[in-house]
Amino acid sequence: MLTPLVLSGGSGTRLWPVSRRNLPKQFLALSGHGTLFQQTVARARRLPDAAAPIVVASEDHRFLAAEQLQEAGVADAAIVLEPLARNTAPAIALGALKALERDPDALLLVLPADHLVTRPEAFDAAVAQALPAARDGWLVTFGIRPDRAETGFGYIRRGEGLGDGVFRVERFVEKPDLATAEGYLADGGYDWNSGMFLFRAARYLEELGQHAPAMLAAVREAYAGATRDLDFIRIGKEAFARVPEDSIDYAVMEKTRRAAVVPVDCGWSDIGSWSALWLTGRRDADGNLREGDTLVIDTHNSLLRSHDRHLVATVGVDDLIVVTTPDATLVARRDAAQDVKKVVDRLKASG
Ligand code: GDD
Ligand code: MG
Repeated sequence: MLTPLVLSGGSGTRLWPVSRRNLPKQFLALSGHGTLFQQTVARARRLPDAAAPIVVASEDHRFLAAEQLQEAGVADAAIVLEPLARNTAPAIALGALKALERDPDALLLVLPADHLVTRPEAFDAAVAQALPAARDGWLVTFGIRPDRAETGFGYIRRGEGLGDGVFRVERFVEKPDLATAEGYLADGGYDWNSGMFLFRAARYLEELGQHAPAMLAAVREAYAGATRDLDFIRIGKEAFARVPEDSIDYAVMEKTRRAAVVPVDCGWSDIGSWSALWLTGRRDADGNLREGDTLVIDTHNSLLRSHDRHLVATVGVDDLIVVTTPDATLVARRDAAQDVKKVVDRLKASG
């Protein structure tokens, strides 16, 4: 059985001030129809033989997740709630334990809730290609052709072919520094890790047991002590606080010898920052991406977003990001978009 596992616990701080602690970006309609979370669930739904999805989200967002599932017509999802964030390796382990309750041979399709895929049919085909390898015990990731030296992604060196569009991963390097990323781009033999994975739930736990045994033991204990009410599986705070924090990329993918990659060209993007949104959005002839009430004069290659009927007007500026909300306004250079999270850090520090 193919079980979609939707990872929905991120906080999306680089999309401040629209993405907030109580309403992070995956639950917002930033691009395309519906919220990113709803689009992700819909993408999983269209796969042949997909089982009911498992959503792993923060306790704080339980109603958002449940409401948005309901609105999307999904009534059978299981929602696992984390009392605090421990990054993706533990979150996926929780999903794997839930999937194994239903089916000991469960295949997990891990989908981050905040990605955009504009050609879902190409993604469907890639999943079909990945299935035999995943059944065989490979941890399969979906690779994206890089077009820039992005340091926020994992890089995968393609190795020998394993048949029908599947390659062994020769090397997996999570978030290299800029010089290294530039080298990989020039080399041409590297793909980005999309952060979407397909593997047998049992195989993932086995790898985690090898590379991060303390994490696996702590997650098992936390899951065993979970309370269940309605559609929610609630993980206890004390038990989950004992789980070491790490991402699947560092904890497993960099270390495993059974990683494979299926390159896919599906119009993928990680809506990680305002500049990423600008890149993927529908820009006008002057290169501006505008939403809401905006008025531009001699303005180019900028992202302007107004809230409600608050008019945003710009004159004689290029490469800017201007985003307004009822209680905050962001003005940033587009090439500094990654640093927007520093605003959130500063706000947190000052309470
Ligand atoms: N449930 C849960 N709990 N979900 C989480 C947690 C958590 O503690 N932390 C992150 N997530 C979710 C995020 O919401 C996102 O959908 C996904 O897991 C990936 O986390 P990110 O924090 O966005 O990771 P990243 O973007 O820095 O890096 C990953 O994605 C890149 C592609 O976008 C890595 O897999 C990279 O290798 C990859 O290139
Ligand atoms: Mg991300």
